[in-house]
Amino acid sequence: MSINLTGKAAVITGSARGIGKAIALKLASLGADVVISDINAEQAAATAKEIASATGKRAISHAGDISKLDQAEALIDACVKEFGHIDILVNNAGITKDTLLMRMKPEQWDAVIAVNLTGTFNCTQPAFKQMMKQRSGAIVNISSIAKDGNMGQTNYSASKAGVVGFTKAVALEGASRGIRSNAIAPGFIKTDMTDAIPEAIRSRMVKMIPLQRAGLPEDIANGVAFLSSDMASFITGHVLEINGGGFQPASAD
Ligand SMILES: NC(=O)c1ccc[n+]([C@@H]2O[C@H](COP(=O)([O-])OP(=O)(O)OC[C@H]3O[C@@H](n4cnc5c(N)ncnc54)[C@H](O)[C@@H]3O)[C@@H](O)[C@H]2O)c1
Repeated sequence: MSINLTGKAAVITGSARGIGKAIALKLASLGADVVISDINAEQAAATAKEIASATGKRAISHAGDISKLDQAEALIDACVKEFGHIDILVNNAGITKDTLLMRMKPEQWDAVIAVNLTGTFNCTQPAFKQMMKQRSGAIVNISSIAKDGNMGQTNYSASKAGVVGFTKAVALEGASRGIRSNAIAPGFIKTDMTDAIPEAIRSRMVKMIPLQRAGLPEDIANGVAFLSSDMASFITGHVLEINGGGFQPASAD
């Protein structure tokens, strides 16, 4: 059995670049029409164009800030207007503002919770309403290995643990209507986000990964393709860990 998403419409937040872009490309290459959603309008438009020409599927871009409910609602509306339905929502947009708890400013806390956690709620609620009408849909939320706690990431860890609880609650509320809700918790993935980490720390992190390499955006995209497809039709409320075998800071030195 292979994955075929022909006829499906997917919204992927934060998909102008990085993991989101790889997810959008994967879903389109498996047959889905996609909405490239990002706060960076120019990059979103360029990515939509690139994916449409690479896959022959319809790819539109929608610029907006998912931490604002009205903008998230407009995003889901745009998908339904363009494609008539929304079958897959991938809540991928996320930010970090790392610092130790002792130094964390309320603005750093608020910004990360607003995008990573509230943004997930903002996009899911309008999509869920539409999926309830359709009596089908698949939601995949991008959490993180940091959901279990990471130094210097109290804000980010709290947001990503929140995403897991949210995912499981949505799974229960959606199950009787054919809506599945799952999460992926990526480990260390090579993207612009992690390229911002100093090289010395990055290579130390990679050495701690049992499979001895950084993950690639495509590793996460493959998981999303599976969870959003009919191959996962009996899977809901699950958190798929894609991390090369775990990241074990305790055994670092
Ligand atoms: N890279 C990793 O190692 C890693 C590990 C675990 C989890 N994650 C998660 O995966 C997701 C993608 O990460 P990435 O590494 O590709 O990051 P990235 O920074 O490369 O891409 C994130 C995208 O989200 C967009 N974005 C940011 N704020 C937004 C907002 N308010 N509204 C709409 N779009 C917004 C950005 O413009 C960007 O295009 C994030 O949720 C991140 O927390 C990443």
